[in-house]
Amino acid sequence: MAAQDRLTAEFLAFAHRLGDAAGSVIMPSYRTGITANDKSDGGRFDPVTAADRAAEEAIRGLIARTYPSHGVIGEEFGSENTEAEFVWVLDPIDGTKSFISAIPLWGTLIGLLHEGKPLLGLSDHPFLRERFWGDGQTATGSDRSRSWPLASRKPLPLRDAVVFAGSSVTDDPGLFERLGTLKQRVRMIRFGSDCYDTCMLAEGHIDAILQTGLDIYDVAATIPIVTGAGGVVSGLDGGPALRSGTILTSGDPALHVELLSLLAPDNL
Ligand code: IPD
Ligand code: CA
Ligand code: CA
Repeated sequence: MAAQDRLTAEFLAFAHRLGDAAGSVIMPSYRTGITANDKSDGGRFDPVTAADRAAEEAIRGLIARTYPSHGVIGEEFGSENTEAEFVWVLDPIDGTKSFISAIPLWGTLIGLLHEGKPLLGLSDHPFLRERFWGDGQTATGSDRSRSWPLASRKPLPLRDAVVFAGSSVTDDPGLFERLGTLKQRVRMIRFGSDCYDTCMLAEGHIDAILQTGLDIYDVAATIPIVTGAGGVVSGLDGGPALRSGTILTSGDPALHVELLSLLAPDNL
């Protein structure tokens, strides 16, 4: 095994430890009626719970002790040492609105950037006892008793495509209107499944996902999972997804090109 591959394998094993740590902190609070505070400062409700904070603290502590030279970007506790060669990107609970509503589609997202580019990612779903991870070359799902390779869906006609959209698309009237027009051309559109829908795209059940209002910690972990399964993630302009905020994720590269064109502001 080449040195870089050995390092990636070591970091992936560590990402699993981080997922275990987050899950054991979060699970005792799930479906307990835990209180949420609103981070939005008067804007649209943006909840955070003690479980979000405690999980991120637990993960950050492990990173600081194991890889003190690495950087960290976390949703709840900000950024440190982001110029480092390796930077962990953490969303302790992606889907806090689902979490506080007892809908089990939330997960912990753990991504690792190498020189600013996504190297590997893990999406952990402790209530479902499922976990998904990838390194851009391969991707794997696991239910804790067995694991399986992830492969996104093969090409199919647009009219048969299953498309998901993040709930925040409804906050952008122009994008929402374009999605409404697209709805006439695909099999169905479903809303709001947090990070679990991206894992199901990587597993071949969903063809595309449109999301907006995202930050780096919403996407850093899922990019290597999707690309490792044969899918594509980009900004709506076709550029890199990591910092674009509005992204399209597709299981099939040809469908991706078709949807980017259909969702472009002037094309529907
Ligand atoms: C949110 C989830 C949600 C998406 C929002 C995100 P959070 O993350 O990913 O699915 O629609 O845009 O902010 O706040 O629950 O970590
Ligand atoms: Ca998130
Ligand atoms: Ca979060």
